[in-house]
Amino acid sequence: MHENNTWSGRFNEPVSELVKTYTASVSFDQRMAECDIQGSLAHAQMLNRAKVLSDEDLAAIQQGMAELLNDIRSGQFEWRVDLEDVHMNIEKRLTDKIGDAGKRLHTGRSRNDQVATDIRLYLRGAIDTTCQLLRDLQRALLELAAPHAATVMPGFTHLQVAQPVTFGHHLLAYVEMLARDEERMLDCRKRVNRLPLGAAALAGTTFPIDRQYTAQLLGFDDVCQNSLDAVSDRDFAIEFTAAASLVMVHLSRLSEELILWMSPRVGFIDIADRFCTGSSIMPQKKNPDVPELVRGKSGRVTGHLLALLMLMKSQPLAYNKDNQEDKEPLFDTIDTLIDTLRIYADMMRGITVKADAMRSAVLQGFATATDLADYLVKKGLPFRDSHEVVARAVRHAEQAGCDLADLPLEVLQQFSSQIEQDVYHVLTPEGSLAQRDHLGGTAPAQVQAQIARHQARLGEA
Ligand code: ARG
Repeated sequence: MHENNTWSGRFNEPVSELVKTYTASVSFDQRMAECDIQGSLAHAQMLNRAKVLSDEDLAAIQQGMAELLNDIRSGQFEWRVDLEDVHMNIEKRLTDKIGDAGKRLHTGRSRNDQVATDIRLYLRGAIDTTCQLLRDLQRALLELAAPHAATVMPGFTHLQVAQPVTFGHHLLAYVEMLARDEERMLDCRKRVNRLPLGAAALAGTTFPIDRQYTAQLLGFDDVCQNSLDAVSDRDFAIEFTAAASLVMVHLSRLSEELILWMSPRVGFIDIADRFCTGSSIMPQKKNPDVPELVRGKSGRVTGHLLALLMLMKSQPLAYNKDNQEDKEPLFDTIDTLIDTLRIYADMMRGITVKADAMRSAVLQGFATATDLADYLVKKGLPFRDSHEVVARAVRHAEQAGCDLADLPLEVLQQFSSQIEQDVYHVLTPEGSLAQRDHLGGTAPAQVQAQIARHQARLGEA
């Protein structure tokens, strides 16, 4: 043996310094330390029940691990690069403490199934945190939407004023997206929560292990059914990163809107000062840094998704060292996602709505033109003909520099004799909203019903 490590017995020369640092993962996989210890304790308990590990050895391992956990939590544990990764650092320190019992812990397992177990445990915790934060952000959006179930704003297509909607309705679109994101996370969790341990290096082990028992101890729903697959695939991490990318893309879309709405040219909202920064040269500036960064970070997370897909793509069965590269993209995805969700909920709670600006924007873009067309259809005109009639009325109003609702009845009647006094009910933004009174529509009554439905679904924090 040249080194202080566990596998150098067959080598003729020590590993070069450069290779040592190049292949080590302890700098980034040490964050799985608690999961590694949890997995080892369950493995040891299972080995003991299978009569592979004595009661004394199990007790020593439990005692030693409890001490290590304390050292790790208090920052006293010294991580050594020459011990390569989190697994060997912990095993070595355990053995230093308790002797031979520590050396028996690795019976019937390999770092290959060990690391796969650790990642799944770690990711399971991250998914649970993500789901809580997704729900809190949905609640924050509902809090903002509730007082604005009837606040008119322009709805856009092609970023051109299209039809009036309510601000509450607009926000609820994002609640829907985030609710699906939560569903995706929970669905992904089912496949994350299966136990690879027992696959050993790739082919299983000669010891009489009880994988269902280990799974039960660790709170896994099931065990991976094929040892080669168990140690090698990282599809569960890819799935999570895909679901995380969708969250980030949804928040990037919302960020783009917040940035636009906060621009003085639009002026629909204000974002609390604590989420903005000033300019070092232009004293008047207040920049929406947080939404801009979220928009930027969405690229970072989707980049990680691509990295993980490419990492997996050409790997033959079973485990290859390539898989060590799964951790940094995955961990950075988790960190970015969790930080973003946390700050976003706070930020939504610091938004001021400028309802007057929203309403005057609605009055500027002929947003009720479709309502006039629908009105004429209800009076018996075919839709294509009424579309044409309204287009001519819009052109007229545009030249006159006013909104459709500002045209006198005699003028409107020049475009169609079917138009009567009651037309003004549909030409106002409020009239337009009120008529879209069906499931999924923007009528304030519908928006209120949706808010109530979401509140019931989300409950209290
Ligand atoms: N640090 C390794 C990883 O992250 C642990 C598994 C190493 N296994 C091996 N046979 N070298 O994947």
